[in-house]
Amino acid sequence: IKNLFLVRHAESVYNVRDRIGGDSGLTDKGRNQAWALSRRFIGTPLPYIFTSTLRRTLEMAEPLLETRRGQTIHHAFSEFDEINVGECEGLSYADIERTRPELFAARSRNKYNFVYPGGEGYATMAGRVYRGVKKAIYLSGNSEYIMIIGHQAVNRMILSDFLFRRAEDVPYIFIPQDKYFHIVSTQSKKLFELRKY
Ligand code: F6P
Repeated sequence: IKNLFLVRHAESVYNVRDRIGGDSGLTDKGRNQAWALSRRFIGTPLPYIFTSTLRRTLEMAEPLLETRRGQTIHHAFSEFDEINVGECEGLSYADIERTRPELFAARSRNKYNFVYPGGEGYATMAGRVYRGVKKAIYLSGNSEYIMIIGHQAVNRMILSDFLFRRAEDVPYIFIPQDKYFHIVSTQSKKLFELRKY
């Protein structure tokens, strides 16, 4: 890939309710953001878009696919699904702190290596996320332009593959919902740009 556009889904119903996990769709604001993203890419070649299998990324891709009908191939990969929070599914961070204080403390102490009971952690999801990136590169025939629409934790892991970051810093990388990363890789350099849409 020469140009990777790494996008996080826009505002979801669970984002507004401060809940983690789940499979909620976008809010009205989120849908408007999705249209803004599609307008931002008018004129940019985008033969392949990869999303997760979750509603919020599928809805994020909809306007892009609608405005580029016939010009863009879409694949939904479960490798790009958000971190599985296991028993904490549907809870807010405040709920976890109140009802599972030991879990909350363990995660704050070592967020990268923490694994949700019955779910995943950053360290344990790394393999499947990188597998997804490899699959995307392969399926796109090493296309010069690809877009991945993912999630907060997933995008952190994808970025960490390109950035040389200490593992313990990765769960704290800022992944906004109104901007995307444009990663340009050439043999001699990698360039990161955070751009508003
Ligand atoms: O809040 C949105 C979300 O994507 C959750 O579904 C996920 O558990 C979380 O972000 C990951 O971010 P953090 O590791 O900072 O909790």
